[in-house]
Amino acid sequence: MTRPQPRPGVLDIAPYVPGKSSAPGVSKVFKLSSNETPLGPSERAVAAYREAGQHLEDYPDGSASALREAIGEAFGLDPARIVRGAGSDDLLNLLARAYLKDGDEAIHTTHGFLVYPIATRGTGATPVVAPETNYTADVDAMLKLVTPRTKLVFLANPNNPTGTYVPFDEVKRLQRALPPSTLLVLDAAYAEYVRRNDYESGIELVATTDNVVMTRTFSKIYGLASLRLGWMYGPAPVVDAVNRIRGPFNVNGPAIEAGIAAIRDTAHVERAREHNAKWIPWLTDEITKLGLPVTPSVANFVLIHFPDVKAATAADAFLTKRGLILRQVGAYKLPAALRMSVGTDEANRLVVQGLKDFLGKAA
Ligand SMILES: Cc1ncc(COP(=O)(O)O)c(C=O)c1O
Repeated sequence: MTRPQPRPGVLDIAPYVPGKSSAPGVSKVFKLSSNETPLGPSERAVAAYREAGQHLEDYPDGSASALREAIGEAFGLDPARIVRGAGSDDLLNLLARAYLKDGDEAIHTTHGFLVYPIATRGTGATPVVAPETNYTADVDAMLKLVTPRTKLVFLANPNNPTGTYVPFDEVKRLQRALPPSTLLVLDAAYAEYVRRNDYESGIELVATTDNVVMTRTFSKIYGLASLRLGWMYGPAPVVDAVNRIRGPFNVNGPAIEAGIAAIRDTAHVERAREHNAKWIPWLTDEITKLGLPVTPSVANFVLIHFPDVKAATAADAFLTKRGLILRQVGAYKLPAALRMSVGTDEANRLVVQGLKDFLGKAA
């Protein structure tokens, strides 16, 4: 029987599985599975969202100019070179749709963010996976895979779920060695958390080259994951292409208003940065001391390595029974690891205690 068929590649997509959010039978749950902020959003963002909720009958501003201006002001960027999306996922998919077709290739790295192969396959193009070194993107390994068919290169910097980053010099080397017709997508979803002098989110490269675009999100440090809001900054022709194919109202009114308030509440962002900067080293040290290696992270989560898949799965089950929900990362080719988002003081302490008890129990 003939029936409608999706385009080639669509049925090869392994659907994205989000982090768990509940633990059966446990009343107090700490969701540490999706890299959300434990501080929540700015109160001003929530107030702006509520106010916008009074006007749900109106279409949002299709150009989101007030939001683009607020972002431009905060980062010193030309608002005309900014496009907003329903989360950065939306923009990653739009970039794939605008620049890939059947037979093209898009490079990402072994433990790179899962949306890249999904967005790539959705266009009929082929994802090409570059090996990493020490759980970190390796510029030479990526460059080795470039062919005339390579139209996009996705680099999460810092990367999820490893928490590692590529220094600016290396990103520049990657850009310089790519053909000018290949678009480098720098996904800087966790940029606000990074405290390293040799890191640059992508703003400078976008400003000084013609084939780099940077994506950002309001889902992480701004605490607005539920509203689905992201943005990209790119060269004028890329901005033009994405604007032509995006939904005319791809971001809703309350999200736009909350985003404007969130980006202006710099004190709230700073609190979130401080909280993270305090807990990342503590978690890394305490968990390492238990004998579980932790990949050094510059983001708001840590990747914890267990001796084998069985141990990682058992630890996950053990912690879940205590209401501590971490993320299994088998889909990222890391089946013997768990990813933990930095939580509240209480959650962070409980996880370390939980791992201690788990290991004691297993010994
Ligand atoms: C590396 C990376 N990029 C992009 C995203 C997508 O964020 P959003 O679509 O919520 O903006 C995430 C979310 O987990 C991520 O880890």
